[in-house]
Amino acid sequence: MKKLNVFPEKRGSDQREFLTLLEQTAKVHGEVALPSRSSDRAIWGEEFFNLSRSTHWRRLDAGSKLGALTALGQKVLQEAYFIECAGMAYAGKMNLAASTREERQFFSFVAEEETRHLRMIESIGGFQTVTEQIPSFALLIGEIIGEATKSGHLLLIQILLEGWGLNYYKTLAKSASDEAVANVFKSIVKDEIRHHSGGVVLFREVTLSESDAESILSYLERLVAMVKIGPYAVCEEVSQRAPFPDRGSFEAFLHETAAVEAAAGKLELIGQLLYKNLPRPVSDELTRRGTLTPLTLTAMTDTLAQAIPGIPGPG
Ligand SMILES: [Fe+2]
Ligand SMILES: [Fe+2]
Repeated sequence: MKKLNVFPEKRGSDQREFLTLLEQTAKVHGEVALPSRSSDRAIWGEEFFNLSRSTHWRRLDAGSKLGALTALGQKVLQEAYFIECAGMAYAGKMNLAASTREERQFFSFVAEEETRHLRMIESIGGFQTVTEQIPSFALLIGEIIGEATKSGHLLLIQILLEGWGLNYYKTLAKSASDEAVANVFKSIVKDEIRHHSGGVVLFREVTLSESDAESILSYLERLVAMVKIGPYAVCEEVSQRAPFPDRGSFEAFLHETAAVEAAAGKLELIGQLLYKNLPRPVSDELTRRGTLTPLTLTAMTDTLAQAIPGIPGPG
């Protein structure tokens, strides 16, 4: 069988016949045009990204701050867009893997909901959705959807990512300065709660083999690494506009923006979702490996400095 293409290309706007049919279908399914958002303000402000307490950030002029916050907002939306895109593929895959007709019905509904999420984010986004610019977190989710087994899917995608996603989307909705954007995320959260619950219920019926458990643990290691590393996008956008003169100033920036604490909070949420749902021997193994232990400030500083061009490393 051909490998699942989680992120297919966009159809060209010259292919009108099919695109018109798609628009008609969306209307029949109740899609209404969303109000356009005001583009002169960043959707998420400096508080959302924990920037207000940073001396380095405060030294930036208003134009650079707006530029960085706008770019960060676009990255948030772009990541959400590709995650929803992966969600459509996920629902399709789980639909084919369903062992009962009820399960298949559930995943058919999920597919429609993920499609609606994608289209809502696209319509408020105002960004390019080119497949060359898929954020690495979405790429990893795509890889899991393409390659993990059904039990891995239920745990990693439905329990963990949907559970994590609904908390994240709640904060996006709460902190958005734009009402249209806030409403989109509020409406998505309502669906993600059911998607997450579906994963919890179905995963209870699963007996994990040793190799399933091992594959889940190793995917977890990779997913968690992306959370542990800290505010990658924030550091990238800030350092592009105001380069950090040395390693010390970069470490101070991470300290003032409470980067370690923020990552630790995220890891705690991940832990709650996992420990509630994983069988005891697997969660014990997770603890033993220290997968969910946050990085120290020094380790985070070094890891980010290595990953982002232009940030001074040690020495
Ligand atoms: Fe979704
Ligand atoms: Fe979902």
